[in-house]
Amino acid sequence: PADFHLTGRRPGTVIVLGAGIAGLVSAYELGKAGYRVTVLEPRDRAGGRNLTVRGGDELTDLHGFHQRARFTAGQYMNAGPARIAPWMVTLDYCRELGVPVEVFTNGNADAYIYHSSMPAGQPVRYRTAKADTYGYVSELLAKATDQGALDAELTAEDRARLVEFLTDFGDLGEAREYLGSSRRGFTSWPGEAGAPGEMLGDVPAASAVFASGVGRHFSFEFGFDQAMPMFQPVGGMDRLPGALTRAIGPRRIKLGCRATSLIQKGSGVTVTYTDATGCAHAMTADYVIAAMPPHLLTGLVHNLGADVVAALGAIRPFSAGKIGLEYRSRWWETDHRIFGGITETDLDLAHVWHPSHGYLGDRGVLIGYYHYGATADRYSAMSPKDRETSAVTLGERIYGAKYRTELDSSFSVAWREVPHLRAAWHDFAGESAQSPIFKPLAEPTGRVLFAGDWLSNMDAWQHGAIVAARKAVTTLHARALK
Ligand code: PHE
Repeated sequence: PADFHLTGRRPGTVIVLGAGIAGLVSAYELGKAGYRVTVLEPRDRAGGRNLTVRGGDELTDLHGFHQRARFTAGQYMNAGPARIAPWMVTLDYCRELGVPVEVFTNGNADAYIYHSSMPAGQPVRYRTAKADTYGYVSELLAKATDQGALDAELTAEDRARLVEFLTDFGDLGEAREYLGSSRRGFTSWPGEAGAPGEMLGDVPAASAVFASGVGRHFSFEFGFDQAMPMFQPVGGMDRLPGALTRAIGPRRIKLGCRATSLIQKGSGVTVTYTDATGCAHAMTADYVIAAMPPHLLTGLVHNLGADVVAALGAIRPFSAGKIGLEYRSRWWETDHRIFGGITETDLDLAHVWHPSHGYLGDRGVLIGYYHYGATADRYSAMSPKDRETSAVTLGERIYGAKYRTELDSSFSVAWREVPHLRAAWHDFAGESAQSPIFKPLAEPTGRVLFAGDWLSNMDAWQHGAIVAARKAVTTLHARALK
């Protein structure tokens, strides 16, 4: 809201450490206001964890595993962020920068749920699992209501309304029992006159439905951050850092430049860095926005002070990994009728993502696993070939032989082992962004300001990186005007 111009003033100079989303948005907003900004980025591309992998892209991780993506033209995987909720400010930057978006299918009635207790090749469709779970829950609650269990809680009129709701919600029969429903799906779909279709039969007993545990996946899509519709940039998530880079001016972003020290004095901040050829440089500016991983920031030579170090130390790196599997055919669409959306498993794979673009095309990249924490750490220690072998062996249990036979190539990213990033997101051991320990980062007193998803209430989202960057920029500007 305040004056965000530098009219009549000397343009301040700012060094931004890190060309991830927080760094790029900081540079973009400062540039609009007239500041002279230099972004130092140790990697050979901007975007940080916003990484879209296409054919020819290379990655050598800290275990020394080297990969070169063999994806065919037009195919890609979003190895980092991949979905944007409608309320997120990320979408406003897409609009402002002219980055077209399309729907990311985050939930799909046709996608599968597969638990290791299920026979191989017999996953359950979401639509079936929901019909059965909602059906039985509704039947049981209607029964309890009818039998008087809620008489103390509800009036007769309320009880009637509740039962009416449950009858509809669970698709209950005349006697208010769940007997199966067209919601479960069909073995042969309704067709022409004379072909009413064949409903999926063999309705499992309530006890089997609850024992299967399928219901534990339903609440995911209730989340304020995960509910449909979700969005993705057309062509890959890195269209966003690409557009930001163009808007900032590519020459302001120095790739291959690793900061080595950060020293603030009364009048400015000096950053030393090593460029791609190994040459050392020093640069002084009025301000620094440190938008690099918090656990790597403390590795610089610095004079940030003990409180800042303590705050940064309370933010621990958290692991996640994804594998992209390119297939020669879109068998999940032709054979399984799954168009986008996520299959949930209790296997190492955790989540399997079907692509939300390129429908009905010749090829596609499936996210063969998207897992977090200890599983991700375990897979990070495996060679890319072994990760692929494991992903395919487990995926085959769900989808059958084509999971192996149609595979063309794979590419996997273990975020904890990606140089200069070293995390997928963060673990705050229960502390929130409002916690007093983070005050030195959120309300800095010197010339160094901080930005990153890790300094927001939306860690692990670009939205968090952006709102933190906007706060750093407005704080900086308010101080510059004094
Ligand atoms: N934003 C990431 C994702 O959507 C990580 C995350 C997962 C955050 C689940 C919250 C909940 O995959």
